[in-house]
Amino acid sequence: MERQRLYIFSLISSALFLLSQGIVRATLVDNDKQALLDFEKKLPHLRSLNWDEDSPVCKNWTGVSCNEDGSRVISLRLPGVGFHGPIPTNTLSRLSALQILSLRSNFINGTFPLDLGKLRNLSYLYLQFNNFTGPLPRDFSVWKNLTGINFSNNGFNGSIPSSISSLRQLSSLNLANNSLLGEIPDLNLPNLQLLNLSNNNLSGAVPKSLQKFPKSAFLGNNASLLEYSVTSSPAVSLPKEPILKSKNTGKLSERALLGIIIAVSVLGLLGFAFLLLVCLLRRKIEDGFPGKLEKGNMSPEKVISRSQDANNKLVFFEGCNYAFDLEDLLRASAEVLGKGTFGTAYKAILEDATMVVVKRLKEVGVGKREFEQQMGVVGSIKHENVIELRAYYYSKDEKLMVYDYYSQGSLAAMLHGKRGENRPPLDWETRLRIAVGAARGIARVHIENGGKLVHGNVKSSNIFLNSRQYGCVSDLGLSTVMSSLAPPIARAAGYRAPEVMDTRKATQSSDVYSFGVMLLELLTGKSPIHTTSGDEIVHLVRWVHSVVREEWTAEVFDLELLRYPNIEEELVEMLQIAMACVVRMPDQRPKMSEVAKMIANVRPTAFRNRSSGELKTGNSSQTPPVGVSETDLSS
Ligand SMILES: *[C@@H]1O[C@H](CO)[C@@H](O)[C@H](O)[C@H]1NC(C)=O
Ligand SMILES: *[C@@H]1O[C@H](CO)[C@@H](O)[C@H](O)[C@H]1NC(C)=O
Ligand SMILES: *[C@@H]1O[C@H](CO)[C@@H](O)[C@H](O)[C@H]1NC(C)=O
Ligand SMILES: *[C@@H]1O[C@H](CO)[C@@H](O)[C@H](O)[C@H]1NC(C)=O
Ligand SMILES: *[C@@H]1O[C@H](CO)[C@@H](O)[C@H](O)[C@H]1NC(C)=O
Ligand SMILES: *[C@@H]1O[C@H](CO)[C@@H](O)[C@H](O)[C@H]1NC(C)=O
Ligand SMILES: *[C@@H]1O[C@H](CO)[C@@H](O)[C@H](O)[C@H]1NC(C)=O
Ligand SMILES: *[C@@H]1O[C@H](CO)[C@@H](O)[C@H](O)[C@H]1NC(C)=O
Ligand SMILES: *[C@@H]1O[C@H](CO)[C@@H](O)[C@H](O)[C@H]1NC(C)=O
Ligand SMILES: *[C@@H]1O[C@H](CO)[C@@H](O)[C@H](O)[C@H]1NC(C)=O
Ligand SMILES: *[C@@H]1O[C@H](CO)[C@@H](O)[C@H](O)[C@H]1NC(C)=O
Repeated sequence: MERQRLYIFSLISSALFLLSQGIVRATLVDNDKQALLDFEKKLPHLRSLNWDEDSPVCKNWTGVSCNEDGSRVISLRLPGVGFHGPIPTNTLSRLSALQILSLRSNFINGTFPLDLGKLRNLSYLYLQFNNFTGPLPRDFSVWKNLTGINFSNNGFNGSIPSSISSLRQLSSLNLANNSLLGEIPDLNLPNLQLLNLSNNNLSGAVPKSLQKFPKSAFLGNNASLLEYSVTSSPAVSLPKEPILKSKNTGKLSERALLGIIIAVSVLGLLGFAFLLLVCLLRRKIEDGFPGKLEKGNMSPEKVISRSQDANNKLVFFEGCNYAFDLEDLLRASAEVLGKGTFGTAYKAILEDATMVVVKRLKEVGVGKREFEQQMGVVGSIKHENVIELRAYYYSKDEKLMVYDYYSQGSLAAMLHGKRGENRPPLDWETRLRIAVGAARGIARVHIENGGKLVHGNVKSSNIFLNSRQYGCVSDLGLSTVMSSLAPPIARAAGYRAPEVMDTRKATQSSDVYSFGVMLLELLTGKSPIHTTSGDEIVHLVRWVHSVVREEWTAEVFDLELLRYPNIEEELVEMLQIAMACVVRMPDQRPKMSEVAKMIANVRPTAFRNRSSGELKTGNSSQTPPVGVSETDLSS
């Protein structure tokens, strides 16, 4: 009675509450919808947008996306729709929750719509390739969250406003190919990663804060701009008159003395540099396996004890057409490629110019029979996405593995190596192909040996690009022959699944974890363990968790990736796959074959399903090389 009434009352009131929430949500999104309809009506365009008044704005409208509860429009992307004319006022400015606005590649003219200043949450503003004219907005400080600006290829004139300095989040600024005038303000932007001011009419000098950007960011302006490259590194100039001449005057002139001091210090520096170089070179040679051996400065025995050579020789696998023996390998010149979890890898160049990678294992914990058995399993895997083990060598003191050499270097080098002028950033399509290839490679490893083989060392430095530019994996199947999983060297620790820290035993699900970390690395461009500028040690998985929890998802991604248009959904999808791989409980992680399928589905047009026989085990030497669909990725 009393209680029942109370119950009913609360039921009704909560229903009313929910209803009112629904109404509020509906009104908000209806306002956004009306703003969009007004915009569409007032700005002529060539392509139809199918913005049907009766269909749900968050679901069916081209280029529109909403927040999670569907209450607000947060992203509007309408590239290449053929908009022409100026942006109508009081339309887009009503989308007050908007975070991403892209109207690139249209024919929009007129001046910058100042009322966009009302969009306080705007993070990305892409207006490149239009016909905007007139000045840039004077007050950028209204967009506190602005992260990416691309106004390139328009007709903006006037000067660059110094209020851009207030955009603390700004990471990319492209104003290239406009008609901007005047001096570049001192933009002290700590997060700025990409800058292009080329092809304008700017003059003066490049301010100090921007001198870290490549010269190409300032090309095509008034020539005076580029003088900083000379003035900022004062050259040491030697006196013009010969020093001897001044001797005639009885004493050295001040100028000559200065000259001598400078000359002596320059010589001293050169000498020091030379010594340093010699030391470094020598060190490198001594590190090398087996080093240049002709000169006898290092005996081969040091590297491979030949005492029991009689029945220890290089064992090649079927289908391998290398024609060298141990002696040849010993005579090869070698260079250290890297020290890894299981040993040191060398690039060896044989006399006939063949290049191979030789890996010297340390601390093998099994006998010869067991070792050979495991190598037999590993060597029999022939798959496009698995780097073949070509040969191995086992003696009491030495265990060697021979692989093909991949000239492009590992994924780790591509992601974290120094970006020189001729080293292009790793684009999203390549990263997709790396992910899909590596996933397929590991999935292939996992069906070997009755479905029990473990890769055991998945990390970006063991992933390479095959001839078709898909990822392929190396260094597999070693964890079971090593005496124990050594405590990980710092860099590798970030890949290790939490349970492996205790059990010291790699499993297929720990491979999935490591793969997930590698995916995060691909998405964020950050190393699994890295230090911030404040010397704080950051674990990538934890960091991504914290950022995603706070719903800054966009900030997770590698800035280099934000240059590619319309990939956000793919990025987010890939992020979700990575997060599924790195869950704490091993049995909750997906199987590698599922991961491979999920990744292929991120862009189904490119990685269309192939024959189901793909992951079949069996007579491996007859397994046809499995290709990845040739379909053009850019479709
Ligand atoms: C949304 O679009 C889909 C396909 O484009 C269509 O089948 C569906 O009827 C649309 N929904 C509404 C409510 O218009
Ligand atoms: C701006 O974004 C924040 C955080 O996402 C949100 O709380 C706020 O409501 C947004 N502002 C508007 C006007 O939507
Ligand atoms: C914009 O372009 C149209 C032609 O597409 C032209 O008639 C109009 O004058 C231009 N407006 C401005 C402000 O340049
Ligand atoms: C846009 O500007 C370019 C160069 O200023 C000009 O050639 C082109 O005709 C303009 N297009 C429109 C539609 O105004
Ligand atoms: C904008 O920045 C503020 C402060 O940095 C943050 O609290 C807010 O969530 C951001 N809004 C969006 C939409 O990112
Ligand atoms: C910018 O261009 C417009 C016409 O396109 C012109 O009227 C104006 O004077 C120019 N401003 C500057 C600072 O050059
Ligand atoms: C500027 O225009 C030139 C020539 O049209 C083009 O090659 C270049 O890529 C443009 N720069 C940017 C940053 O869009
Ligand atoms: C650049 O500035 C100079 C001098 O101020 C002017 O003569 C020239 O027309 C300008 N060029 C462009 C493309 O605006
Ligand atoms: C800037 O754009 C120009 C083309 O306009 C290009 O040549 C240059 O490489 C770009 N520089 C940077 C740092 O992006
Ligand atoms: C380049 O800048 C200098 C100094 O600001 C100016 O005197 C000169 O006219 C400019 N040249 C051009 C072609 O704009
Ligand atoms: C800006 O747009 C141009 C042209 O689409 C593109 O080449 C460039 O990468 C973009 N730059 C930034 C910083 O987003």
